[in-house]
Amino acid sequence: MVVLVLGSGAREHALVRALALDPDVDAVLALPGNPGIAALARCLEGDPADPALVLATARREGVDLVVVGPEAPLVAGVADALAEAGIDCFGPSAAASRLEASKAFAKEVMAAAGVPTAAAHVCTTPEQVAAALSATGAPYVVKEDGLAAGKGVVVTEDLTEALEHAAVCLARPGGRVVIEDFLDGPEVSLFCLADGRDVVPLAPAQDFKRVGEGDAGPNTGGMGAYSPLTWAPEGLVEEVLSTVARPTVAEMSRRGTPFTGVLYVGLALTSAGLRVVEFNARFGDPETQSVLARLRTPIGGVLRAASRGELDRLPPLQWSEQTSVTVVVAAEGYPAAPRTGDEIGGLDQVGQVPEVHVLHAGTRLEDGVLRSAGGRVLSVVSLGPDLARARERAYTAADRVTLRGSHVRRDIALAAERGDLDHPRKT
Ligand code: GLY
Repeated sequence: MVVLVLGSGAREHALVRALALDPDVDAVLALPGNPGIAALARCLEGDPADPALVLATARREGVDLVVVGPEAPLVAGVADALAEAGIDCFGPSAAASRLEASKAFAKEVMAAAGVPTAAAHVCTTPEQVAAALSATGAPYVVKEDGLAAGKGVVVTEDLTEALEHAAVCLARPGGRVVIEDFLDGPEVSLFCLADGRDVVPLAPAQDFKRVGEGDAGPNTGGMGAYSPLTWAPEGLVEEVLSTVARPTVAEMSRRGTPFTGVLYVGLALTSAGLRVVEFNARFGDPETQSVLARLRTPIGGVLRAASRGELDRLPPLQWSEQTSVTVVVAAEGYPAAPRTGDEIGGLDQVGQVPEVHVLHAGTRLEDGVLRSAGGRVLSVVSLGPDLARARERAYTAADRVTLRGSHVRRDIALAAERGDLDHPRKT
């Protein structure tokens, strides 16, 4: 099988790495990939969000399966173009990817499917926003309706900040915001593979969205993750399948827009029970780095089965007993104004830490020198027999990376390691 992976981040590097380890995968191509991916796959030039280019590339290269990493190609209709041409694609159609692309649409589907989520107000005017914020009270949750590359959600105690964020979103063409009740309790990411009808869950993970320790500072694309969640309540995955993923996939089919790909369920475990915080239509970054590090079942066949509506034929997925921790090495100034162009060193020393691998995100090669080229530069991924060992390995390795002004969050998975995470359950 020849597989083409679309995207250029550490999530895509994790997918390429897993595909390269699959004995049924003969070759992996990436569009556009990055210098780390280039060690495992042939990287091709072009825009992964251009359906005609992706289709032409897949035909020219004899690709059997296209795996879409980021959301932009999905929203642009890459999966639709491939489906029309009869090429297997792991990723939803443009219509189905609205579950991520429109928060208001996701809320509508959740309501129709009876999925537990926060009460929400869809607003198109400042007056509606003010009324909604007064109804929910603090902490205020303001979400831009459309895709915003991780910058669309503000959670704040400050009414002025909430109003200002809403005003910025409303000022955009077709601007809409969704104002929601705040959900307490720890958050969990569960990736559910869907084939339009059946659903197969991966292992739950937790990510760390804020830039600073103790969840301080602005939101980022994600500063780290770990999996599995030893503290999560028993039966959580089955409960998410029965109350969230299966009803949502059934509702999407009922609407004539079946969902194929990853339904990324972002959850809060609140005192009133689990609630969906958000849906995404793709693998999460950086959770994927840790989830795939533990997956033992060869991934190519799994993704192809999902793309063909054959998940019911898959044997149960096999997982490593180990724990995985991912620490993101971010550039100076990230997320506000990441500095780029600095030399990255120390990767040979990182390679000496056992059970660690490094995935590239914002990197580029310039005259044989590896340089930073984005905010999140690398993901350092470890495995260990428990969280303590996995954390120790990940941080030992991350500390060997040299990059001027770079920063990592030092508390990835720390609360879980200390047993400080609580999951309020409904009584
Ligand atoms: N981990 C957050 C995201 O992928 O959106």
